[in-house]
Amino acid sequence: MSAMTTTHGAADAQRAAEAVCDRLGVRAPVIGIVLGSGLGTLADRLTEATRVPYAEIPGFHAPKVDGHRGELIAGQLGGREVLCLAGRFHMYEGHPARVSAFPIRVLHALGARRLFVSNAAGGVRRSFRAGELMRIVDHLNLTGQNPLTGPVEPGDQRFNDMTEAYSVALGERLDASAQALGVPLASGVYAGLLGPNFETPAEVRMLERLGADAVGMSTVAEVIVARNLGMEVAGISLITNPGAGISSTPLNHEEVMAEGERAAGAFGDLVAHFVSGL
Ligand code: HPA
Repeated sequence: MSAMTTTHGAADAQRAAEAVCDRLGVRAPVIGIVLGSGLGTLADRLTEATRVPYAEIPGFHAPKVDGHRGELIAGQLGGREVLCLAGRFHMYEGHPARVSAFPIRVLHALGARRLFVSNAAGGVRRSFRAGELMRIVDHLNLTGQNPLTGPVEPGDQRFNDMTEAYSVALGERLDASAQALGVPLASGVYAGLLGPNFETPAEVRMLERLGADAVGMSTVAEVIVARNLGMEVAGISLITNPGAGISSTPLNHEEVMAEGERAAGAFGDLVAHFVSGL
């Protein structure tokens, strides 16, 4: 433990932002972007990029999952200034929800008022095939945790509205970008579970009945914090595999990563086009 107590709340986010702001040369980012498993290569598209390793940001942790880099990057994408989080600290690594979502507070403290989240997910909708992109229209927080429990942070609200957790306006822009580029983009509901094991076939059938179209182990805590801070949110899941029991092949992380690399081109084109219009 350091001498200073870290709550991963608003004051710590401000401190972290001040520690990196000058170094990153942040001026007016149009959006903060979170890159999911296997989707980190989008960070390579940033021009005039400045990178800060997570280990050098107060309150951040080094990601331990293969395929997550662990850098906060400032740069240009689609001709606009963006901030990019390449790497997450997942709850399944043992991080409480508020720690897992802390980087979102830092993006906000650095001036981002929009958030784009991405993740790798299993397909719950039976027609989904590996490699499909799904725009997230809503989510189910089934992690059993919430990043906003405890005392109300300055700038937070106690009972935050989540009616439009994912912005309809940004969703329409994503659809328009997908159409302009000819990139197929489905839409659906993302169920966020704690993990780290993949689901059982019975759990996938349960998620289907609950109204989920895709399932993963991230994102929901970040979106809860972002909405609480008044950020507008958009998101995309890359379907890396049919959910357990939908296909007979066992699931593994390597497959998730390989699918991310295969989809990286279309995903990157789509995000760059979307950002260019903000
Ligand atoms: N389940 C949960 N998370 C995932 C999956 C899955 O099938 N695929 C990629 N991330």
